Amino acid sequence: MTKLTIVAFDGTRHELDVEDGTTVMENAIRNSVPGIEAECGGACACATCHVYVDEAWAAQVGAPEAMEEDMLDFAYDVRPTSRLSCQIKMSEALDGLVVHVPERQA
Ligand code: FES
Repeated sequence: MTKLTIVAFDGTRHELDVEDGTTVMENAIRNSVPGIEAECGGACACATCHVYVDEAWAAQVGAPEAMEEDMLDFAYDVRPTSRLSCQIKMSEALDGLVVHVPERQA
């Protein structure tokens, strides 16, 4: 099992054991983490699954692909570490990943 921590906007830490191959968004929804809406169900077409990757993990997670980057234009308060959580797939390399939920979605 791989560890994933999703920090809600109010500071609550949701520490999850997740399966490799699942996305950060899927795990947020499955565990009812507040602030992740994921209206399009993971198709990279809504930008309501926006998260900030923790600074310590930014390089490991990497930059968004072109399509995700375009969708991020619709997200609220985009920062250098912004990603769409449906596009971050968990793997052993991301064991311990921490992401933060923004104040609100688009
Ligand atoms: S769930 Fe719609 S872009 Fe991620």
